[in-house]
Amino acid sequence: MKRLQLTREEEEIFDGKQGEALSMAIRLLYSLGELGGADKLISIKSAHISGVSYKNVGEGGIQFLKKMFHKVSVPTSLNPLGFDIENGGPVTIDENFHKKQMEIVELYQKMGVMDSFTCTPYYYYNEPSFGDHISWAESSAIIYVNSLIGARTNRESGPSALASAIIGKTPNHGLHKDEGRKATVVVNVSEPLDYTKFAALGLYLGPKLNKSIPLVKGQEKAKGIELKAFSAALSATSSIPMFHVDRVTRESGLLADSPETIDVGKEEIEETIEKNSTKEEPELIAIGCPHLSSEELDYIAHLLNGKKKVGPDLFLFTSREVKANSSEAVRIIENFGGKVFSDTCMVVSPLSNKYNSTGTNSGKATFYLPLKGYGNQKVAFMGIMDLLKWVIA
Ligand code: F3S
Repeated sequence: MKRLQLTREEEEIFDGKQGEALSMAIRLLYSLGELGGADKLISIKSAHISGVSYKNVGEGGIQFLKKMFHKVSVPTSLNPLGFDIENGGPVTIDENFHKKQMEIVELYQKMGVMDSFTCTPYYYYNEPSFGDHISWAESSAIIYVNSLIGARTNRESGPSALASAIIGKTPNHGLHKDEGRKATVVVNVSEPLDYTKFAALGLYLGPKLNKSIPLVKGQEKAKGIELKAFSAALSATSSIPMFHVDRVTRESGLLADSPETIDVGKEEIEETIEKNSTKEEPELIAIGCPHLSSEELDYIAHLLNGKKKVGPDLFLFTSREVKANSSEAVRIIENFGGKVFSDTCMVVSPLSNKYNSTGTNSGKATFYLPLKGYGNQKVAFMGIMDLLKWVIA
């Protein structure tokens, strides 16, 4: 097999002539490139880093960041962390968690990474264009930008995205090439899908497809936010980095020869929703996994406007920029009695400090929240109208 070729300058970095952090970064990219069969490193336009919450990365994550400490060389955004830095919450945290989390944030700030703290950096902070080579971590964002925007990234981890951000390059293999972006399985979906049903389709398909890129047929009316729900659920339950939707996504013509076919109907979707939903009243309704867009916040504000709140707490999660640009929607939601948090989310904050059961319309949160170390929650997975019935008098 042909080995990955480094340029003379890259070799010097590899050999440590420009310092240990750069050498560590390029060695990591080199190893990944060799494993993936890359021929060379290619320049990237941006990076996005995950694994920011102290809850997820712990002390080991801090030590890794200190070793790899170096300024980033391309625009680089950052995933959510364990709490809302400016406003506090969503749950009380101890002093040590706060101190350690801020140590992580300050290390990233000194590296020149944006204060984005969101899994939807493609709204406002870091919006790639069609055909851009990028190096992103955060499975829900990777699959979204590959599929809906047509940018090109492999499924990077926090460390490999950081290495790419520092070097400004990524190994040329997988999703960076047309061949790696072809659908290998056709999924015929006969049931009309809304936001929650798209999330359910993701939960259903993830374990079945594992790594295969699907071409979804029968959903020509799919909207961006519905495909965002599908992106998050499908990528949480599999290693799939991309999907196509016939006549909707821009590269849906990329199809392998002799693809496998799967049929999905009403029964599979309804069973998936049923299986994932406890019927007990949850202690918390949590919406915004992935982080909400302005359009979604406006819609929720419209549903709550002028109504009286009862029952469980209502928490919404978004980014700072979306929140700042949706001030009227935020005002309506907070007047109603809900809370809108930025910088964090229901999965990466230590939710179990206060809650045992959560209702959500997110397939990804439905997958993660019951897990020990993520939330240990009983989950009620249902559509937004059903969720809001718990909180509207
Ligand atoms: Fe985003 Fe947190 Fe969900 S990072 S995709 S809101 S688990």
